[in-house]
Amino acid sequence: MKKKVRKAVFPVGGLGTRFLPATKAMPKEMLTLVDKPLIQYAIEEAAAAGIEEFILVTSRAKSSMEDHFDYPYELAKTLEERGKTAELALLEKMLPAAGRVVYTRQQKPLGLGHAVWCARDLVGDEPFAVLLPDDVILGDKPCLSQMVEAHEATQGNIVAVMEVPREHTKRYGVLDIAEDNGKLVSVKGLVEKPDPKDAPSTLTIIGRYILLPEIWSHLDRHEKGAGGEIQLTDAMAKMIGGKPFHGLRFEGTRYDCGDKLGWLEANIAFALARPDLADSMRDILRRFSSR
Ligand code: G1P
Repeated sequence: MKKKVRKAVFPVGGLGTRFLPATKAMPKEMLTLVDKPLIQYAIEEAAAAGIEEFILVTSRAKSSMEDHFDYPYELAKTLEERGKTAELALLEKMLPAAGRVVYTRQQKPLGLGHAVWCARDLVGDEPFAVLLPDDVILGDKPCLSQMVEAHEATQGNIVAVMEVPREHTKRYGVLDIAEDNGKLVSVKGLVEKPDPKDAPSTLTIIGRYILLPEIWSHLDRHEKGAGGEIQLTDAMAKMIGGKPFHGLRFEGTRYDCGDKLGWLEANIAFALARPDLADSMRDILRRFSSR
């Protein structure tokens, strides 16, 4: 029987070391992209794709995310008293329904595979999505919606993929391609962070996945991989040969917001995509380019 993708896991326990000192006391997922935190973009993308339950795998010093998805009672009252109805409506619109966001802690930083495994009982025996909020994708159709469609067509595992320069393979999970149909790529292997000379291709995974529950038995083993961490890529590689496994060349542009320059570029791109900000942003860019 076909099961709908209803749940999404957001591994948000990472230390954000690439973005210090901003992330010393603040989760990197709370970094602002124009006027919303990164985690808000990820939640909205998931909601647009039909996700009903949002599972955040957090760690210490991440409680501002719980506050962000709570009803801001005092603030709401003050906004109401001051007649700031537009701001109040915006806050209320952004709020997921009560009981739809759940939190669990990854107690030790043992890797992405371990973070996802921490959500095993909350997800259970059904296909689910994983979104890494520091990968932000700008495009007409949300990336996860494109992936849900691909999953409905294949009934298998789907990872979002993009080409990178060969010298960058060491930063990503890389596909060993069985068959490339342009948009959908069937996968015969996956390697986490290979040296450029060993990479089976330059088609790499970015932070969006739809996974079948078969992943749990592989993550249960807690096998360490690249960097001594429990890697999601390694557990996914073990699933290949069973149910279908595809990479989806998604439509849109991905920004690495866990990286300073990637985040700066994303702020410009997202401001230019906003009707209320685009003209002013263009003026600013013109001023800088004539310096
Ligand atoms: C993680 C995954 C990697 C993937 C990347 C996408 O790496 O392990 O396979 O390509 O996200 O952003 P990280 O960026 O956590 O090192």
